[in-house]
Amino acid sequence: MPVPIIIANWKMSLGVNASVKLALSVGNKLRGMRGKEIVLCPSFTSLSRVGEVIAKTGIKLGAQNVFWKETGAYTGEEAPSTLCELGCQYVIVGHSERRQNIFETDEMVHNKIRVCLENKLMPIVCVGETYAERQGGYANDVVFYQLIKALSGLTLSGSRQLIIAYEPVWVIGSGRAINPLDAGKAFRLIHRTLYDLWPERIIKKHIRIVYGGSVDGKNARHFSQLEFFSGFLVGGSSLRAEEFAGIIKAI
Ligand code: PGA
Repeated sequence: MPVPIIIANWKMSLGVNASVKLALSVGNKLRGMRGKEIVLCPSFTSLSRVGEVIAKTGIKLGAQNVFWKETGAYTGEEAPSTLCELGCQYVIVGHSERRQNIFETDEMVHNKIRVCLENKLMPIVCVGETYAERQGGYANDVVFYQLIKALSGLTLSGSRQLIIAYEPVWVIGSGRAINPLDAGKAFRLIHRTLYDLWPERIIKKHIRIVYGGSVDGKNARHFSQLEFFSGFLVGGSSLRAEEFAGIIKAI
């Protein structure tokens, strides 16, 4: 397995002070930890303060969104260069909560990934099916087309890196992760789909696949044995430093 990456998605759950407090306690819990890539993704308004707290800890900073233009009259949006200025190295793109609530389309997701790569930000691209899509028997098609639409036409070279987060929408925030064997099947599908886009050497060097959806300190180790597994995108369990550290230690 390449260096595992564990990404905390704090969503809109914390204010600035609470984010600073949590970043401090995560930093304390993980002091001295080696060989794992840890990323905290607070809300936009907390990025700067959280960035200061984790500056010397080895923990990295990520954003939960970005706009696909470099600059201009786009009220309420954030430019990739601003995120870089704040020390962000990662951006979550195409999270199902944005696809559902903000009606983010595959085209927007694609444009955001492109602008991240052009600005040396590592996109964490979320894909995954809803419960109805799974019950209908077309979960694989959904994930396949999300990937193709998000990633077609992108060049991966130099230091450009990409993370694919497989997140079955119906288990996010449910407290019940999917069966790791099903996650394994999705990982294989993702891996096969990537082969339609790039040669193996590019995939190996530039892309990692992680799982997200109700990961906790207890179920984490069941996923870590899966082929193509490289880490986690963690929501609820990342809001408790102890639990988050437990996930990190479990893999
Ligand atoms: P969850 O969220 O861990 O609370 O299920 C994961 C995510 O939305 O990225």
